[in-house]
Amino acid sequence: MVDIHTGMNITEGDFNHTVDLLIAAMNEMGVSHRVQNRLLARLALLRDEMIYI
Ligand code: HEM
Repeated sequence: MVDIHTGMNITEGDFNHTVDLLIAAMNEMGVSHRVQNRLLARLALLRDEMIYI
């Protein structure tokens, strides 16, 4: 995950936008909030690996 995203200069805004799009897609597909939160909690752990500082 780190190797793929390193050098893409992903900002916090990019990351947040990606999460917003994912939530919209999950809502559209009728994914329950409980399941959404479980996925988002896992993605949050990757946040620091994605964001370019
Ligand atoms: C938690 C958030 C994210 C996850 C879980 C994630 C996961 C992944 C995965 C699994 C791949 C495929 C790696 C492979 O081919 O082996 C990938 C590729 C990619 N990701 Fe992400 N990503 C995330 C956030 C982002 C963000 C925020 C951006 C940019 C705004 C981004 C841009 C890309 C791009 C451009 C590729 C394609 C790389 C290529 O095939 O050349 N990702 N990501």
